[in-house]
Amino acid sequence: MKFIVTGGAGFIGGNFMHYMVNKYPEDQFINLDLLTYAGNLETVAPLEGKPNYRFVRGDIADRKFIFDLFAREKPDVVVNFAAESHVDRSITDPEAFVRTNVCGTTTLLDACRTYGIKRYHQVSTDEVYGDLPLDRPDLFFTETTPLHTSSPYSASKASADLFVLAYHRTYGLPVSISRCSNNYGPYHFPEKLIPLVISRALADEKIPVYGTGANVRDWLYVTDHCSAIDLVVRKGLEGEVYNIGGHNERTNLDVVKTILRSLNKPESLIEFVKDRPGHDRRYAMDPTKIETELGWKPEYTFDTGIPKTIEWYLSNREWWEHIVSGEYQKYFDKMYSKRLAEGENA
Ligand SMILES: NC(=O)c1ccc[n+]([C@@H]2O[C@H](COP(=O)([O-])OP(=O)(O)OC[C@H]3O[C@@H](n4cnc5c(N)ncnc54)[C@H](O)[C@@H]3O)[C@@H](O)[C@H]2O)c1
Repeated sequence: MKFIVTGGAGFIGGNFMHYMVNKYPEDQFINLDLLTYAGNLETVAPLEGKPNYRFVRGDIADRKFIFDLFAREKPDVVVNFAAESHVDRSITDPEAFVRTNVCGTTTLLDACRTYGIKRYHQVSTDEVYGDLPLDRPDLFFTETTPLHTSSPYSASKASADLFVLAYHRTYGLPVSISRCSNNYGPYHFPEKLIPLVISRALADEKIPVYGTGANVRDWLYVTDHCSAIDLVVRKGLEGEVYNIGGHNERTNLDVVKTILRSLNKPESLIEFVKDRPGHDRRYAMDPTKIETELGWKPEYTFDTGIPKTIEWYLSNREWWEHIVSGEYQKYFDKMYSKRLAEGENA
């Protein structure tokens, strides 16, 4: 099978590329990524040269580019990770989120409709369900929880999900959607909570925590997300939504304190800052459907995934130090500019 995986130079897409390219040597994988500030080719550098892997730089919202690519490649499966993904950025620039997350998705769906596809999979998020109150630990999001978004980011992701389901109903497109809780693990961009805490604590820098740090997130180790998507793409039913989560709820403050303890750093590094506008209180997923219907089970708990993650950041300092310094943005030019000048498709 030939896969186009969009956003494969980002955090989860990058981990998914590693997971799939190594697991399925008989399948072909095209990594399509625009390389925005969040895309980092160094994340997928170990895959370069593998016979079943290729990188293509491009914009999922560029209709001509996408249609040309589909006409040329005729993919069997599209897995769409590409997105503007940072809630804070969506508050300052919502339009970029509409363009990539909504228009990019409909462009891919139209290309699938035109050229045919065996499966289009949309990588969505728990944030489409809004939030839960902190004093009701008995409540969880299920696949039938109404969409109820809070930020421009989550609104754009929910809109995309509605288009995906509409294309199934209207055009019979074979689609699936997965909605996952917060991910952590290797190759996570250091503006997000866990890598931010690790990188700043190692440099003895202050660690900003929104409000009182009481917001609760449900954390999943990234390769468990990858195995779930692999399962949904291969065995999930068309037109269905699957929630993914591992019942690992922690307050943001607990997460920060756990990391500081592991690194032997003082809690005095914590600095409480003004809360994010509209900050969601609690996310908590009910993954019963994917567990019972598809047999998915996460390999890691928060307690086993966090030491593994910290260890990865300690052993791969160069990777995140290049991001902090901006060096990572030169990688594309270094690796591909010569080939591009020679007319090769990068
Ligand atoms: N990070 C999480 O905890 C989490 C949880 C659930 C779902 N998700 C979803 O998973 C997906 C990936 O999230 P992430 O954290 O890896 O994001 P990320 O920001 O790390 O990566 C996004 C990637 O998409 C690329 N991209 C952005 N705009 C593009 C465009 N127009 N065309 C092509 N490529 C483009 C970027 O260059 C980047 O490589 C997103 O759709 C997100 O909504 C994330």
